[in-house]
Amino acid sequence: MTLRLAELSEENLPAVIAIPPAVGEKAYVAPVLHSIALAYVTPSAWPRVIMDDDTVVGFVMANWDPDNEIPEFRGGIWRINIADEAKGRGVGRFAVEQVAAEARRRGYDQITVLWDPASDGPEQFYLKMGFRKQGELGGETVGVLDL
Ligand SMILES: CC(C)(COP(=O)(O)OP(=O)(O)OC[C@H]1O[C@@H](n2cnc3c(N)ncnc32)[C@H](O)[C@@H]1OP(=O)(O)O)[C@@H](O)C(=O)NCCC(=O)NCCS
Repeated sequence: MTLRLAELSEENLPAVIAIPPAVGEKAYVAPVLHSIALAYVTPSAWPRVIMDDDTVVGFVMANWDPDNEIPEFRGGIWRINIADEAKGRGVGRFAVEQVAAEARRRGYDQITVLWDPASDGPEQFYLKMGFRKQGELGGETVGVLDL
């Protein structure tokens, strides 16, 4: 695989919004359509498309808001959605690595992520990526990755 990040475009939008979950489907992450709408009204949001050559394989959204009064919201991963056919092939890992690299470029020494603590949620993925649990916020587990 030759993975890279791309900005959202008219060309890749149809494939990006087709990544699960669909709108209305119950899941541990929001539909990409909702995330893109949120990015439109959130200047600090950093939405990126994950490409394998010319194929859309995922979506990742970070948020860079270093002055936020809530430390957990100052910088980190907001959303990761990997296409079903691309799961288990390192695309999620690539997304985390790319957010970490962007955070370093911006001068951060750690990033955060919040996840649903359900046993079939993404907790094991984030722990494997090196995040350590640091309490909870609004019923979600807070994970911190030192850079
Ligand atoms: C969770 C998710 C992002 C993982 O992406 P992925 O591309 O399948 O993960 P990767 O292939 O990069 O896996 C990286 C490592 O994590 C492990 N891993 C991934 N998902 C896992 C899971 N659910 N349970 C345990 N380990 C998991 C992999 O085995 C791999 O380990 P290895 O390096 O030792 O082989 C993806 O499955 C997904 O989009 N899930 C639905 C949406 C979601 O939950 N997003 C996160 C919330 S914001």
